[in-house]
Amino acid sequence: MDNEEKNLIYKGIPLPKAVHSAESLKFAEDFQVRDDDVFVVTYPKSGTTWMQEIVPVILSGGDLSPIQTIPNWDRMPWLEETRAPLLLDARPSPRGIVTHLPYQLMPSSFSQSKAKVIYVTRNPKDVLVSSFHFHGMATFLEEPGTFEEFMEKFLAGKLFFGKWCDHVKGWRSSELKERILYVTYEEMLEDLRGAVVKFSRFLGRPLSEEAVDRIVEKSGFESMKNNAMSNYSLVPGEVFNKEKSQFLRKGGVSGDWRNHFSAANEERFNSVYREEMKDTDFKFSWDE
Ligand code: A3P
Repeated sequence: MDNEEKNLIYKGIPLPKAVHSAESLKFAEDFQVRDDDVFVVTYPKSGTTWMQEIVPVILSGGDLSPIQTIPNWDRMPWLEETRAPLLLDARPSPRGIVTHLPYQLMPSSFSQSKAKVIYVTRNPKDVLVSSFHFHGMATFLEEPGTFEEFMEKFLAGKLFFGKWCDHVKGWRSSELKERILYVTYEEMLEDLRGAVVKFSRFLGRPLSEEAVDRIVEKSGFESMKNNAMSNYSLVPGEVFNKEKSQFLRKGGVSGDWRNHFSAANEERFNSVYREEMKDTDFKFSWDE
């Protein structure tokens, strides 16, 4: 299958056909959001799987069985993917749901609801690098080509879920007020315990000290790498070619982009990024 055939275009946004269909996108559009639903929203490669390890255990009051017995993609399904109708409609509350959808493409019932959202942002240069390796190993995604070619596609919004800047601007400017909590991947790396406590308070689900400790331990990079329910080892090699890259690849460190970007790449990236973000006043650690 060549690159063009791997994607469909949904409202201007490229999405891999292997896990999205007209039916699943219609399902997402018409989805009846419940007030106690919990959404984790990310641009791809920003820490989705990490949040699928943390949030279900917060919602279960510290019980680890969700992460020990259910694969991450069923434990906290993607709203827009083909498996969602099977998984979400009949699920008892509170439902943990992940999505990569841009803000303006959320279901219409979402804005009127009281459902809470945790929006995770990651340094876009590290997102780009993580995505580059992911495109190398995920056979349902287009081939990455050279790093330069891939960077140009990323900057132009031609990769799945469109432009990073648009995604971040849309969600970071949402008017969800106390319904949304913003966190960065880098803050989670720096102080995972603090992040877990913040999430549990935000979700109105206070945890014992022991439960927090358990979550921090189990959602550490090495623990997740060893958890078959979270490390994608259950996915066959024809779908994820693990000889090319592991899904949980570098993690645990920020700034891997420095090992991939030439000085020219950095200059090019920065000039597009600055232009795209010039009218915003977001304060990100990577901009300092
Ligand atoms: P790298 O490719 O840089 O290693 P997503 O789940 O949104 O696709 O994001 C995947 C990225 O999150 C990968 O980044 C992966 O290693 C990283 N990740 C997953 N779990 C993590 C953890 N517990 N700690 C740090 N990074 C984690």
